Amino acid sequence: MSHGNLIDWNKDLHQMESEVITTTHRLVETGLFDDEHLVRILDTHPRDALNVNTMGIDETDHSDWKEGDASKLNGEQLLQATKEGRLWLNIRNMLTHHREYADLINSIYDELESKVAGFQALERSANLLVSSPTAIVYYHLDIPVNMLWHLRGKKRAYVYPPYDERFVTQATIEDVICGESYEELAFDPQFDESAFIAELQPGQMVTWPQNTPHRVSNVEGLNVSLTTEHKTPKAIRRIKLFRANRFFRHQCGYQNLSTATEGVGYNMKMAAFSVVKAYRKLFKKKEGNYAYPVTFELDPMNPTKVREMSAK
Ligand SMILES: [Fe+2]
Repeated sequence: MSHGNLIDWNKDLHQMESEVITTTHRLVETGLFDDEHLVRILDTHPRDALNVNTMGIDETDHSDWKEGDASKLNGEQLLQATKEGRLWLNIRNMLTHHREYADLINSIYDELESKVAGFQALERSANLLVSSPTAIVYYHLDIPVNMLWHLRGKKRAYVYPPYDERFVTQATIEDVICGESYEELAFDPQFDESAFIAELQPGQMVTWPQNTPHRVSNVEGLNVSLTTEHKTPKAIRRIKLFRANRFFRHQCGYQNLSTATEGVGYNMKMAAFSVVKAYRKLFKKKEGNYAYPVTFELDPMNPTKVREMSAK
């Protein structure tokens, strides 16, 4: 089933590629995000595509982000633990595992493509985020373009100026894209003076240009949001370019590397890097891939809902 008129949208492609945008949507009215539906999703979702995390309270210390084992609780217990504890459930790959939600997510993107001349959402994916009333997500960036569709509870998204070296350097974005470092970034509370702060209520969304750093603090109630990710042709070129730039920075010592995703310089750089990629494939040299170790289990009897594995 496809859905019609889900989003109020009046931005053009240039604005989508350069500005932080908020608007309203009608995803909640589908009825797909109440407790009953969440429990059904959690009970049927493959557990290897579900992350459960907990975190500290200091937004500058992302080393407190911990990965847990969600395998032993059923959907109802997981939801209850999230309502009462300080957890962040990331239900990944909704497009692959839930037909009804895949239809909804494709409807969102089809509608945006019909409303924005030149906009193409390729490599679409979506994760459903279910998180505790006081949970936070540390300062980080994402590799594709993402959109946060808020559905339940209240949260505050801090979005920092895009394409600005003061907030994240080009070299750091290259490292994240190449899997050489975590998506979490060093955060200075003074950054907040420059932040765009989106106070998200159910029925609101926020999006920002590719690789823009951001962080999130929940404000009230169980929070449910859908985070959709896509790549435009330009976003795909940017990812390839940053991979190439990292190679030229580290192997050839170049520092002032252009971020232009078109033109002669871009084409020459990509041609040179394709030779490097072929070499790496030949000798099976792989890029790094960071993942958090699992360090806690969920314990419904514990007030925090978390039990460190070493404390067993
Ligand atoms: Fe993010």
